[in-house]
Amino acid sequence: MPWLLALLAYLLGSLSFAVLLGRWLGSGDPRLGGSGNPGATNMLRLAGQRAAALTLLGDLGKGLLPVLLARQAELPPLQQAWIGLAAVLGHLYPLYFHFRGGKGVATAAGLLLGLYWPAALLALGVWLLVFALTRISSLAALSATPLSLPLLAWQQPELLWPLGLLSILIVWRHRDNLRALRQGRERSLLG
Ligand code: G3P
Repeated sequence: MPWLLALLAYLLGSLSFAVLLGRWLGSGDPRLGGSGNPGATNMLRLAGQRAAALTLLGDLGKGLLPVLLARQAELPPLQQAWIGLAAVLGHLYPLYFHFRGGKGVATAAGLLLGLYWPAALLALGVWLLVFALTRISSLAALSATPLSLPLLAWQQPELLWPLGLLSILIVWRHRDNLRALRQGRERSLLG
């Protein structure tokens, strides 16, 4: 049962809403413009608020839904976390898109929301604060991650491994953003 849910989570996570919406709405492939990232931020740059909001909802939902299904199946929190992580892995390395996916922030937020909503609320608060100050989405995400994930790990220490791995993956996927931030050439939201 846990393995089946993890597989389903990966397959669900592999649905890149940015790419699909780019096709359906006719705004083009987000991997070919802006930062090249198939995520809500880049959709806002390239396709506007409606496409970005739909991308955010879809990417968040595909992290949240598997965790809720795992909880419904009365699996323990550790298995819920690994199943949620499978959805994030799908987003990062999507089966249907040559394993070239996004950076995992919205899908990880969905996972957090399902596992322990106060950690998701903290992440959202930090994200909004840093974003309001800098207008840089990657910096907001990289600030929110190291605060919200340890809060959850502190609240549920048995989740340390999947959450540690999630943090490493998110930072790794932002390595180009980190380089750009260091060099002072990171894109703002609309840049
Ligand atoms: O959630 C993605 C964000 O952290 C960075 O996106 O397009 O600015 O590289 P982008």
